Amino acid sequence: MYLTREEERMLDGEYGEGVRKFMELLVKLGDIYGAERMIPVGSAQIAGISYKNIGDPGLEFLEEVSTDARVRVPSFMNPAGMDLDRWKELGIPEDFAEKQKRVVEALKRMGVVPTLTCTPYLAGLLPRFGEHIAWAESSAVIYANSILGARTNREGGPSALAAAVTGRTPYYGLHLDENRQPTIGFDIKAPISGEYGFSVLAYTITKKVKKGIPYFRGIRGSADELKVFGATLAAFGGIALFHAEGITPERVEPPREFIEIDKEELKEVKEEIREEYRDVDVVVLGCPHASIPQLKRLKELLGDRVFRVPVWVFVAYPIKEALERSGLKDELEERNVKILSDMCAVVAPLDVLGIKTAVTNSGKMFRYLPATNGVKTYLDSLEHIVEVLAE
Ligand code: F3S
Repeated sequence: MYLTREEERMLDGEYGEGVRKFMELLVKLGDIYGAERMIPVGSAQIAGISYKNIGDPGLEFLEEVSTDARVRVPSFMNPAGMDLDRWKELGIPEDFAEKQKRVVEALKRMGVVPTLTCTPYLAGLLPRFGEHIAWAESSAVIYANSILGARTNREGGPSALAAAVTGRTPYYGLHLDENRQPTIGFDIKAPISGEYGFSVLAYTITKKVKKGIPYFRGIRGSADELKVFGATLAAFGGIALFHAEGITPERVEPPREFIEIDKEELKEVKEEIREEYRDVDVVVLGCPHASIPQLKRLKELLGDRVFRVPVWVFVAYPIKEALERSGLKDELEERNVKILSDMCAVVAPLDVLGIKTAVTNSGKMFRYLPATNGVKTYLDSLEHIVEVLAE
């Protein structure tokens, strides 16, 4: 693999042991994927933040590399296993909280911004069209590639951190034009709306395609709907890029053949995944992290009603601040809705909190909450969740 003089100096340890280790990792990765060279990245987004996921070995590794490695490009953190301010209220154990804070502190020492969100693009990190970046969170990767037109592979925690510290990533995969061409077309012959509607559509598509790059005709959606759509495509199908006519900024040739998806088929899928619920331990919203318009919509739907079970809405920290200032946070909290930043239920220690059942409007949460925490999870529309659980 060709390395510039600067990259060789990193590999030779001239910038310290931490940088050397990270450059070594990137060179190995590049060799595995046949990259001819490195490219500079505009930003990095680091996953593997929750202590629940990385445990003591991950914490020790981060504390060790944080002694000398510093990031070279704007770098944001993915969600942790708890809200850094409200963890006690949630019942998170002290020892978990102490170790989770040490993870965040180690990354802060390296210069990673503690935004702790899966929606960095809502929190101040917005890549431009065509920009090469190294992001790790699957829902953010597909959003950046498909909606923003930036270019990133789905990085692992260590490779994203390596890109942050060196400012480089191996030039392969979705960084290259030839790997970004659509491989299969879908013609959507049904109106789709809401996070639930887009989750069901994404789930239906992933039953038909397990790899490749889909091209969609006939979908329209808000940024928030497309955020959930991409997250669910990534969760069920491992998809990191899609093209959608009128939405994706990148110009590509449409595929020759299209598979039609109609109302009837979507209705059948809804029936297949529908399960009745009357009470759950918690409602989980904000997967990916919610925006202000989504919270406003929740408030409108609720009106004067109050949820009779706790509702957790995950948001990026700057969104929580804005909700506080606008008074919307208090209005929602009075209705049994907790606005939580820095975290995600999937990487939180829900087992120790005694949570066994949940309902969500996000296909991604529906996919992962049972797998990671053994929580029985229902998928439903926000409108219906409010109907069933608020009074
Ligand atoms: Fe974000 Fe967690 Fe969903 S990281 S996309 S809230 S599963």
